[in-house]
Amino acid sequence: MKRDVISMLDLEDVLPEVLQLAKDLKKGKYANEQPLRGKKLAMIFEKSSTRTRVSFEVGMLELGGHALNLSMKDLQLGRGETVADTAKVLSRYVDGIMYRAYQHEMMLDLAKNASVPVINALDNFEHPCQILADLLTVIEYKKQLKGKKMTYVGDGNNVCNSLMLGCAMSGMHFVAACPNGYDPDLGLTKKALALAKNYKGTVEIIEDPMEAAKDADVVYTDVWVSMGQEAEANAREKLFMPYQINSAMMAKAKKDAIAMHCLPAHRGMEISAEVMDGPQSVVFDQAENRLHVQKALMMLVLGGKK
Ligand code: CP
Ligand code: NVA
Repeated sequence: MKRDVISMLDLEDVLPEVLQLAKDLKKGKYANEQPLRGKKLAMIFEKSSTRTRVSFEVGMLELGGHALNLSMKDLQLGRGETVADTAKVLSRYVDGIMYRAYQHEMMLDLAKNASVPVINALDNFEHPCQILADLLTVIEYKKQLKGKKMTYVGDGNNVCNSLMLGCAMSGMHFVAACPNGYDPDLGLTKKALALAKNYKGTVEIIEDPMEAAKDADVVYTDVWVSMGQEAEANAREKLFMPYQINSAMMAKAKKDAIAMHCLPAHRGMEISAEVMDGPQSVVFDQAENRLHVQKALMMLVLGGKK
């Protein structure tokens, strides 16, 4: 059976294993071998990407495989061919498909019709690859996930949804502070609450960002205007201003708290330049860790030794 990774929920049974493999790969395990020799990954991008595009392509190269970058300009998908037909055709050529989509429904449709594994590289609902990198980063700085407090401030978007699930299944204490009407998805919140119960963590959604930041081990944010929401930019920027990660907010957190952002960042908006470029920021470790966790993920879903 193929293993698709569409949601963080698809990783619940293998999360510690994937993070451990990512750590080992980062230390150089398999550096002189080619565990994915001859494997091919199609990468479909409906939207822009720096980290995802480059880390998947470089990761595949380092594992001995090959990644094909396919934008909407390159594909007939951009001219109306169905996602189902695209999935069936690509499955005849490649061993796996990585997809960055606008619509979650398109992601599900691709996965349903592909006979090879599909990895969600961000849609409007989730961003599981990012959260794998984030969890690895927290382990590196805080030694463990269990019992640590993760505070997310800002938009309850795709990154927030996946982060909430990832923290819940790691026994962390997750608090999101979002303006009224911008909470993470309700269905996923219910799932996260159930996971937190199993893994002895907690999940809380509140409105007050300063309250949320109190005693946090990690303070995390993402853009206020996600790709596809450009028309809402002005309204969002006004509403979200109190949710900026800045020195005042970091002062509420633990002394040794780290500041996280999945990037791309807008200094002076969701994070102040002072914090982003200051000693508590670990944003570039997060970016680097995309490479290591995705290599582990590809080894899991595309085969090859572990
Ligand atoms: N964080 C992230 O997914 O970055 P890109 O959009 O550059 O891939
Ligand atoms: N929430 C952002 C994440 C970018 C990596 C977006 O969807 O644009």
